Amino acid sequence: MPDETPAFGGPMSDATDATIESVLQEQRVFAPQPGSGSDSRVPSLEAYRALAARAEADPDRFWGDLAREQLHWFEPFHTVLDWSNPPFARWFEGGTTNLSYNCLDRHLEGPRADRTALIWEGEPGDERRFTYRELHAEVCRAALALRALGVGKGDLVALYMPMVPEAAIAMLACARIGAPHSVVFGGFSSEALRDRLIDGEARLVITADGGYRKDTAVPLKPAVDAALADGSCPTVQHVLVVRRTGAAVTMAEGRDIWWDELVPQQSSDCPAEPMASEDLLFVLYTSGSTGKPKGVVHTTAGYNLWAHLTFQWIFDIRDDDIHWCTADVGWITGHSYIVYGPLSNGATTVMYEGAPRPGKPGAFWELIEKHRITILYTAPTAIRAFMKGGRTVPDSYDMSSLRLLGTVGEPINPEAWMWYREVIGGNRCPIVDTWWQTETGGVMISPLPAATPTKPGSATLPLPGIAADVVDHDGVSQPADQGGYLVVRRPWPGMMRTVHGDPERFRRSYWEEIRPADGSWIYFAGDGARRDADGYFWVMGRVDDVINVSGHRLGTMEIESALVSHPAVAEAAVVGRPDDLKGEGIVAFVTVESGRQGDDDLAADLRRHVGREIGPIARPDEIRFSDALPKTRSGKIMRRILRALAAGQQIQGDTSTLEDRSVLDQLRGES
Ligand code: WT7
Repeated sequence: MPDETPAFGGPMSDATDATIESVLQEQRVFAPQPGSGSDSRVPSLEAYRALAARAEADPDRFWGDLAREQLHWFEPFHTVLDWSNPPFARWFEGGTTNLSYNCLDRHLEGPRADRTALIWEGEPGDERRFTYRELHAEVCRAALALRALGVGKGDLVALYMPMVPEAAIAMLACARIGAPHSVVFGGFSSEALRDRLIDGEARLVITADGGYRKDTAVPLKPAVDAALADGSCPTVQHVLVVRRTGAAVTMAEGRDIWWDELVPQQSSDCPAEPMASEDLLFVLYTSGSTGKPKGVVHTTAGYNLWAHLTFQWIFDIRDDDIHWCTADVGWITGHSYIVYGPLSNGATTVMYEGAPRPGKPGAFWELIEKHRITILYTAPTAIRAFMKGGRTVPDSYDMSSLRLLGTVGEPINPEAWMWYREVIGGNRCPIVDTWWQTETGGVMISPLPAATPTKPGSATLPLPGIAADVVDHDGVSQPADQGGYLVVRRPWPGMMRTVHGDPERFRRSYWEEIRPADGSWIYFAGDGARRDADGYFWVMGRVDDVINVSGHRLGTMEIESALVSHPAVAEAAVVGRPDDLKGEGIVAFVTVESGRQGDDDLAADLRRHVGREIGPIARPDEIRFSDALPKTRSGKIMRRILRALAAGQQIQGDTSTLEDRSVLDQLRGES
C-alpha cells in the first residue's frame, strides 16, 4: 500500500515545481487550424460544444448512434450500456462485430481496397507496403496459421515482437478468429514475459529471431526460450517465429515453427468470426502503485468504437493523410494509433522499426520527408531530446507535408510545446496534446484541431461524451485553478472492463479511492490536474507511486521488489525525480545486508539485476546506499522525504513523525 495518502500538492509538487510554475504563467493561446473549414469532422468550437451537449443530454443515444454509424455489425445490439453492476460496464450487448473486419474487410469494396494501409520502414532502410487488399490477405493467412496451430476463439496469444509488419498482422489475425492477444513490449525481460504468459495462460507465443534497436540486431527468441524453460508456462503449446535478423536460433522440436514456413502456404480467405460486443479482445499489462503489473482488459465493440472515433476526431482524418505514430506496438498507443484506430478508419499508417540516434539524428525528419507524412504523433521526451540537439538538423529536411502534430504519454512543458510548433510544425500545424491511459483505451482529453484554441502545456478539453472532472477526495468538483484528482464521472465505450483474473483489484485500484457521498461511481486515473477559468485541463502527473520515465509507466513497488530479490539487498525504496529529458528519472535508496558493501560495483550489479528482472527501462539512474531508510514510528517509509532528497531539495513539511533523524543526514550524501 502507498505509505502516505496521495494528497494533491504532496508528491507531485516535489517533482514538478518548475513545470507547474511555467504552466501557471502560461498566457499564450493559439487559434485552431485556420482554413480547415467545413470538411473537418468537428469544424468549430460551437460544433464541439453541440456534440458535447448532445452526449451530455442523452449518452445512450449519443453512443448508440455512433456505434451503429461507425462500425459494421453482424448482429445489431439491443442495449447501449448496462451499468447495473458498477464498476463492471457492458456496452452494446446483443451485438456481434469483429475488429479485424472493421479494419480490413469493410474497406475492400470500392477504391479504398487499393489504397496503402500500412507503410513499414525497417531500421536498416528496408521498406514494405501493404494495400488494404494485401493486408487483408496477409491477415487471413496468419489467422488460418493460428488455427492450424490449434488456436481458437478465446485462446490467448502472446506477442513478443520487434516493430515489423507481422506484429500488426498477428494482432489483426488474433482479432479475426476471436483469440485475445497480449502484446508484451520487446524491451521487457524474459522474467517479465514469463509473468505475463503465466497470468494470461497464453496458448501460443509469436516472436521473431530478433529485431533492430538503433544500429544493432538484438535477439528476441532466446528470451522466449528462457521464459518457457523448465515447463514454467505449461499452457504454451507453440512458438511461431518470424525471421527478421537472420540470427541463429534454437528451434524446439514440435514446439517452434517458422512463420515463413507456415503462414504463406495458407489460403487468403478466412472469414472474420462474429464476436459478441463484450468478448475479450486483448489484455495489456501496465504498472500500478502496488503489486505486479495489472492485465488491463479491453473488449471487442467498445474498444473498437473508441479507437475509431478518437482517431477520427483528434486527427481530423482526411483521405490523403499519412499518419505516423512513433510508439511501439507493445504499448497502448501502438495498439490504438498505429494499428486499430487508423485501419478502422481506412487511413494510411506508418510503422517505423528504428529510432533517432547519434549517428542518425535526422531519422524522424527523413521519414517525414520521404513518405510525405501529414500527421506526427510522438512523446514529449522525444521532442525534448530533439530540442537539445538544436534546429539545424530538422531545418535541413522538407517537412512541408505535415499538417498536424500530436503528443502523448507525459505532461509537455510549454517550452517543448513551442519548439515543436515552431521548428517541426513551421508555425503552421496545430498541436494536439492528448491525455489518456492504457486503461482508457483511447484519448480522453485533447484539442480538436479545427475547433479548440490551444494553450501550450494544456490537454485542453474532454472529448464529447467524456465526463472528466477535477475533484477532491470526496469527489467534489474543484473550483477553477484549484488542484485535485483527475477523474471520469461516467462510463465510456473504451474503458477497461476489469483486471485480467482479478475483478476485485479492478474495483480497488480505480473506483474506491474516491467515493462521493451520493454513492455514484467515479473512475480515478491516478493523475493530478487542475482546470483553469476556461475549463481547460492541465495534467500535472501521477499522484500515486507510479513513475513516468520517457512516457513509460513503472511502479515503484515493482522496481523495489526486483531490488530486494538481489541477495545483497535488505531493503529498498524507489522514487522518481525530475529529469529534463525523460520527465522523470529513477532513484533507488538501498540498505544492504550485513557483511555487504554498498559500493559502485554493487550499484552496477543492481542496475543489471533490475534490467534482467523487468527490462532496461526500469534500471535506476542512481542508487544511494544507507544504513537505514526514513520511516515513521509505525514503520512506513516516508517517500515524501526520499523524493525531496532525490531531487536535491530541502526537506519541507513535517518530519516530526520520522523515527530516526540521523538517517536524513546520511541520505543527503551521494553514494
Ligand atoms: C499515464 C498513462 C496513454 C498513452 C501512453 C501512456 C501520463 C499520458 C499524458 C498527457 C500528461 C499524460 C499520465 C497517465 N500521460 N498522456 N498528454 N499529459 N500526462 O499510457 O502507460 O497507460 O500511462 O501517462 O500520467 O496516467 P500509460
